[in-house]
Amino acid sequence: MSHPLKVTLTRRYRFAASHRLHSRNFSDERNRELYGKCSNPHGHGHNYVVEVTVGGPVDPATGMVANLGELDPFVQREVIEAFDQRYLNEEVPEFREAVPTTENVCREIYRRLKSFPSARLERVRIEETSNNSFEYTS
Ligand code: NI
Repeated sequence: MSHPLKVTLTRRYRFAASHRLHSRNFSDERNRELYGKCSNPHGHGHNYVVEVTVGGPVDPATGMVANLGELDPFVQREVIEAFDQRYLNEEVPEFREAVPTTENVCREIYRRLKSFPSARLERVRIEETSNNSFEYTS
């Protein structure tokens, strides 16, 4: 067991947030065409499920690719505290410009987590509903 095979670890996290799909670059009519009921001015909510995948060699001393005792507080601090029970359009600064589609939420979560120190961030996958999931892979 000395070869440095890569192993990935995927951990699930959850947060609840509201958003409105609306771009200032388009007219109200165009926003309604593009985003339909998701552009309702008063927003709507989702229970998001986020899968975070990190990978790398298994540390021979610990037998682990990453320690959940490090990953959990990192994700909690960088993402969950910033997103949970928030109106994403106003309370997460990046979404004052970018439309908080789940595609963009994936990219933003990836950006916030890529500096995780003890393993390489490989993937962020978000389930927005039981029918829709989005994934950002490096
Ligand atoms: Ni939505």
